[in-house]
Amino acid sequence: MTRRAVVAGLGTYVPQKVLTNQDLEQIVDTSDEWIVSRTGIKERHIAEPGETTSMMAAKASVRALADAGLVAEDLDFIVCATNTPDTIFPSTAARVQHQLTSKPIPGVDVQAGCTGLIYGMEMASALIQSGSYRNVLVIGADKLTSITDYEDRTTAVLFGDAAGAFVLQGREDTGRGILASYLQADGRGEDLLVQPAGGSKLPASAETVAARQHYLKMNGNETFRFAVKAMPEAVEEGLKKAGLGVEDMTLLVPHQANLRIIDAAVRRFELDPSRVVVNIDRYGNTSVATIPVALQEAREQGRVHDGDVVVLCAFGAGLTWGSNVIRWGR
Ligand code: ACO
Repeated sequence: MTRRAVVAGLGTYVPQKVLTNQDLEQIVDTSDEWIVSRTGIKERHIAEPGETTSMMAAKASVRALADAGLVAEDLDFIVCATNTPDTIFPSTAARVQHQLTSKPIPGVDVQAGCTGLIYGMEMASALIQSGSYRNVLVIGADKLTSITDYEDRTTAVLFGDAAGAFVLQGREDTGRGILASYLQADGRGEDLLVQPAGGSKLPASAETVAARQHYLKMNGNETFRFAVKAMPEAVEEGLKKAGLGVEDMTLLVPHQANLRIIDAAVRRFELDPSRVVVNIDRYGNTSVATIPVALQEAREQGRVHDGDVVVLCAFGAGLTWGSNVIRWGR
């Protein structure tokens, strides 16, 4: 029998502090009306200055482990998707391991824009299917507010902070678990969404700081155009790889970047709103954390059942895009 990666646990962490559109009106030249009508966002949660990505990740991981009925020492591998690591090195995965347990566990960071969580799930699934690892923690954690320019109204209103974690477990195939994934990356879009400075291309200097090049920069219109094509492609191709069609999808959990992008996918597939999870109004875009946070809310609302076909779908910097098709159940 084949082994498959089953979702054994899911946990999330969202910082308490809330930044509303009204708060942002005091910081940049914007309005609640503009933000809601152009993005669907009403408020977002933001981490305290001393609260790092790994701290949020560790809190979500503790909850995911409890949900799976496991302890950190049971983990065989940690995959941490993030675009805002505590430091470029060492990895956030290693920092999370250290916060969870004194037992060494192999771990690695995955950086694929907002699609990082989807990449992490596929990589963990492959590690499990190889037979070398049984319990793999897949984290999506980002503190985007640490690279958000609050002098740039075109990006300042979009982002929030959060973390989510899945415990994937290898089981003999019962039809449950990750059925298929679809991943893509195309570097021709490298300049559309970028943190220009701080890497080998443009090392940190007084000039890069003065030019605000350590903050996230985005060509919103082009990214939007890309996203409305990439999301449906990822959903359809992921389902096709699983031998399924859109009609088989019980629940779509899309990356929460802009309500209008999600609505375009809903219209394209003629989906009933009950089959799509949307919570961008309360969290904004938390990058790799949007999907676990949205899925966890859907679970708490009783919207996810054993045997459901749940499709996770994202797009982001790179450009990257992709999906995981999961038959829900342990
Ligand atoms: N408040 C008020 N006005 C604003 C604001 C704001 N916060 N931001 C921009 N405007 C103005 C612009 O200056 C422009 O004014 P002008 O017409 O006088 O020049 C006008 O509003 C329209 O601007 P657009 O950029 O055309 O607005 P658009 O409808 O495209 O919305 C947005 C912008 C929300 C950024 C949209 O393009 C978008 O969501 N793009 C995709 C972003 C995304 O999905 N990113 C995902 C990846 S994120 C990641 O990977 C971390």
